[in-house]
Amino acid sequence: MADETFTIHDHRTGKSYDTRIFKGTVRAMDLRQIKTDPEDFGTMSYDPAFMNTASCQSAITFIDGDRGILRYRGYPIEQLAEHCSFLEVAYLLLYGELPTESQLKEWVREVALHTMIHENLKKIMDGFHHDAHRMGILVSTLAALSTFYPDAKNVLDPQVRRLQTLRLIGKVPTIAAFAYRHSLGLPYVYPDNDLGYTENFMNMLWRMSEPKLVANPVLARALDVLFILHADHEQNCGTNTLRTVASAHADPFVAIAAAAAALSGPLHGGANEEVLKMLDEIGTKENIPAFIEHVKAGKGRLMGFGHRVYKNYDPRARIIKRTAEEVFKVTQRNPKLDIAIELERIALDDEYFVKRKLYPNVDFYSGIIYQAMGFKPEMFTVLFAIPRVAGWLAQWQELLLDPDQKISRPRQIYIGHDKRDVIPIDKRTGPKATSA
Ligand code: CMC
Repeated sequence: MADETFTIHDHRTGKSYDTRIFKGTVRAMDLRQIKTDPEDFGTMSYDPAFMNTASCQSAITFIDGDRGILRYRGYPIEQLAEHCSFLEVAYLLLYGELPTESQLKEWVREVALHTMIHENLKKIMDGFHHDAHRMGILVSTLAALSTFYPDAKNVLDPQVRRLQTLRLIGKVPTIAAFAYRHSLGLPYVYPDNDLGYTENFMNMLWRMSEPKLVANPVLARALDVLFILHADHEQNCGTNTLRTVASAHADPFVAIAAAAAALSGPLHGGANEEVLKMLDEIGTKENIPAFIEHVKAGKGRLMGFGHRVYKNYDPRARIIKRTAEEVFKVTQRNPKLDIAIELERIALDDEYFVKRKLYPNVDFYSGIIYQAMGFKPEMFTVLFAIPRVAGWLAQWQELLLDPDQKISRPRQIYIGHDKRDVIPIDKRTGPKATSA
């Protein structure tokens, strides 16, 4: 139909091509037919950092970045954060629908059956230096899980996929808690399956000599809400990494380790740790204007601000800000919240940030809550990764069932030397001083 195509006119050859519009996109392979002569390879699209490229079709998460909307499987994030538990949301992401009461009960039971880790995995964790970054421990231990479950390699078997899904969702809080205890030189606390997902995690983190840690329900709920908010976020850097690695049919443990590695970067999930460092550096409200000038002069970034997709307030940041007030009724008020609120006020009033549509993102306020709950900044990105495992697994499953998907393999525009001959070593000049 004429209204579902557009025409590309190639001025080099005078030829015109009708190109189909597919769900608001042009298929990059359709460009290949545009050639100057039969020997020509054909036209490719060039899009470093995927600024305007859809890499897949997905039914999991919807974001409207201009209007600040986030939905999982059609449900607004605000409603899920208010009415559901994290494991309910994990089920929704994986199975496409919210569970019934009996389905949820069975799901919670099944996940609980997989919370224990092999003693040899614990020994691997023991080998890390006491000050090893918790994300480094998490990434390596997730990858090491692959060696404990060789059956996971059979990724095309739905039963195998389901088992690895339960293993990963069950074990990631245990690994995270062991990483935390290891860094403090404390004995590990084994999972307690009488407790809920978040309460069990808190017990493994903080139980000392008491037989069971009774988690404060406000704090347990706050952590559960934070888990819901971080569970998925469509094709971000970590998820794209997961899909790339999984597209080669690597097992889910190494694919998820790779995604967690991407997440650890300061421009991605590592930003929550950087926000706290930044707030420490600013120190007092009086220092904010000077800090903002420093950022505007290009001498650093306002961490926890800006997003590739959101050009409006990140809806997760709004929920986190509210949750912070709940948490502070139980813990001491974190004085950094006042600095953060003032920083946000000044930034949102400043032309530099307004013009670039830079708003607080999920990482701006989350660290302030985590710190009030007693976490050290090195643990913040681990807290992001725990729930994101559910989203990664949903994306993994979707990828493997998508007939459009193949091994991920981008093209490049080669800009290096043309063919040249090797010269004897005594005649070479070597690289220029600045080459890496
Ligand atoms: N502070 C100051 N300026 C910024 C910031 C910031 N946080 N973010 C973007 N800009 C400026 C940037 O300098 C550029 O200005 P100009 O047009 O003059 O060159 C413009 O805004 C566009 O920035 P960009 O780097 O091209 O945007 P991007 O989409 O590639 O980057 C981002 C997105 C999230 C990496 C970036 O906004 C950033 O570095 N933010 C700080 C780190 C952060 O908070 N990351 C967490 C993201 S949300 C959670 C997650 O993904 O895990």
